[in-house]
Amino acid sequence: MYNGKARAYTNIALIKYWGKKDKELILPMNNSLSLTLDAFYTETSVSFSPYHTKDSFVLDGQLQDEKATAKVSRFLDIARKKAGVNDFAQVESQNFVPTAAGLASSASGLAALAGACNDALQLGLSEKELSQLARRGSGSACRSVFGGFVEWEKGHSDDTSYAQVVPSDDWEEELAMIFILINDQQKDVSSRDGMERTVATSDFYDGWLETVSRDIQTAKQAIAAKDFQALGEVTEANGLKMHATTLAATPPFTYWSPDSLKAMNKVRQIRQTGLACYFTMDAGPNVKVLCQKKDVSAILAALQEDFTKEQLTCAYAGEGLKSLEMEV
Ligand code: PMV
Repeated sequence: MYNGKARAYTNIALIKYWGKKDKELILPMNNSLSLTLDAFYTETSVSFSPYHTKDSFVLDGQLQDEKATAKVSRFLDIARKKAGVNDFAQVESQNFVPTAAGLASSASGLAALAGACNDALQLGLSEKELSQLARRGSGSACRSVFGGFVEWEKGHSDDTSYAQVVPSDDWEEELAMIFILINDQQKDVSSRDGMERTVATSDFYDGWLETVSRDIQTAKQAIAAKDFQALGEVTEANGLKMHATTLAATPPFTYWSPDSLKAMNKVRQIRQTGLACYFTMDAGPNVKVLCQKKDVSAILAALQEDFTKEQLTCAYAGEGLKSLEMEV
């Protein structure tokens, strides 16, 4: 039996990854830039053994079905191939999220699994190589290998597509992200299906691709200059642009629910009162609000006029992937 355990934090993209140019290797169409956060994380342990007769996957204490296990097995196969072993594995993951509001993240989950496999199989991977491996599990996971601001360089091959830290002089320590949890009953379009349909059919996708590298530059300049307004403006605009591509897909779709719109309008209103805050959304109805630490209590108080305390969670900058001791 050979074991490994790791913890990874989730990340939220300020400039989004939206579209794959290689589905097998998970090579993205564009660079993306994220902030790793401390509030949501995953701890995963993996034990390979010649005595296991199949892979198994337990998530939050629940043995997972064939479909979820097959996804984990596909990832384990990549790690097994690197190590030159064939043994099956038991994978146990725990998601640490403040509520059960559908925030379980594939980014933290697959980054933690990559770290656990690296330790168990003694792959000796560098952070860059860990990022490449995590990317094979879920694109955004490659960014969770690092803390703070992170850019995923799209690259053109398995070796050239990985994330790295964006130098920031620790400016992220002054920032925060408030999650507005919106529970809707809509049927989900997964990020994978959503991006695939958009790339294949959206009339707006070319516009997305033409402008996203400029947005990355703007975001990096804002980080270098510690210019919160510039970073917030490009974050909000880039997120809206990503969501606009879904409206022009065939068939069209949206991740927004009525409460998402209510939250976006609320953020604009709060901004008009002089508190700097900007929203972004991913492949779901929840709204995330980028703001400065110094304004968190005032912004939370304003958001509580329209949302319950339970719907609001504040996160700060988080760290990168970390190896953990296995409990015996
Ligand atoms: O890594 P995936 O397949 O969960 O895709 C993530 C896509 C977005 O969350 C919408 C954007 C991003 O860059 O994280």
